[in-house]
Amino acid sequence: MAKPRVFVTRQIFPEEFKRIQEVADAELWTDELPPSRDILLKKSNGVDGILCLLTDKIDAEFMDNAGPQLKVISQIAVGFDNIDIAEATKRGIPVGNTPDVLTHATADATWALMLAASRRFGESERAIRAGRWRTWHPLHYLGPELYGSTLGIIGMGRIGFEVAKRSAGFNMKVIYYDTNRREDLEKQFKMTYADMDTVLKEADFLSLHTWGGKSTYHLIDEKALTKMKKTAVLVNAARGPVVDPKALYNALKNGVINSAGLDVTEPEPIPMSDPLLTLDNCLIVPHIASATTKARKEMSRISAQNLINGVKGEKLLTCVNPDVYKAKK
Ligand code: GLV
Repeated sequence: MAKPRVFVTRQIFPEEFKRIQEVADAELWTDELPPSRDILLKKSNGVDGILCLLTDKIDAEFMDNAGPQLKVISQIAVGFDNIDIAEATKRGIPVGNTPDVLTHATADATWALMLAASRRFGESERAIRAGRWRTWHPLHYLGPELYGSTLGIIGMGRIGFEVAKRSAGFNMKVIYYDTNRREDLEKQFKMTYADMDTVLKEADFLSLHTWGGKSTYHLIDEKALTKMKKTAVLVNAARGPVVDPKALYNALKNGVINSAGLDVTEPEPIPMSDPLLTLDNCLIVPHIASATTKARKEMSRISAQNLINGVKGEKLLTCVNPDVYKAKK
């Protein structure tokens, strides 16, 4: 019997790709940059499965073009706002993601952003490289102190909770907002639930951990930013579009808030002409919060296994639309 066909849209850890090859006729996109829309559609025409990334738009057109034999969409990421889940569910196609294994890496990176943005590490490191470290000065590179301050978290999922727990070492008060209050988590770690306005107003450090997509598009806009403290630090390791970039630029430029640390931007990659790149009080890293070797190996393993399970007609290890299995019963 012919092996199932799959398309893997970017390099993963080679041992995991080899496992895919054992069960499938697998094509791997080896370029550093994502396949263009045309190439994505061409290469996935007639496939039984796809292993994809945030940069690949997996919508109804993609699914129509792939064909009715498409059995699995396996995303190597925890987020999946690039995939039309309702459409996949309607067609009975399970969608896999890679939760849990990147939680700690992302929570750690969030803390790195909070500290580096508030303590002006990007700006001061650039100054050294430009030959501008001339002396120790009592008034140079001052920033807000993290220890003992208030951490506001918007989005209390797995990552938000790990970010909260790490605050114990910094003796912080934690307040959070989520559309679902998490009393189960409040029992495990002392934190206070509040409405969004209260979190915006009281946070010295505000960290975003919501899903992306329509419901959170520009959640942090001009109005939200003006509610924040002038000394506040905003960190976004969720999705770029959760923050309105123009409003953020104005807020940082005009001292409405102190600084920002961004792992994600709108769009990605951020264009060199983006005014945020002109600001010293905006630290930006290229969507690397999950980039520890351990996390990325696990993400490769799980996404490969989801792809393999999917083409074999077996349940995925981690499925974002388990309703597809109910429908099949
Ligand atoms: C990365 O942003 C992810 O969703 O895993």
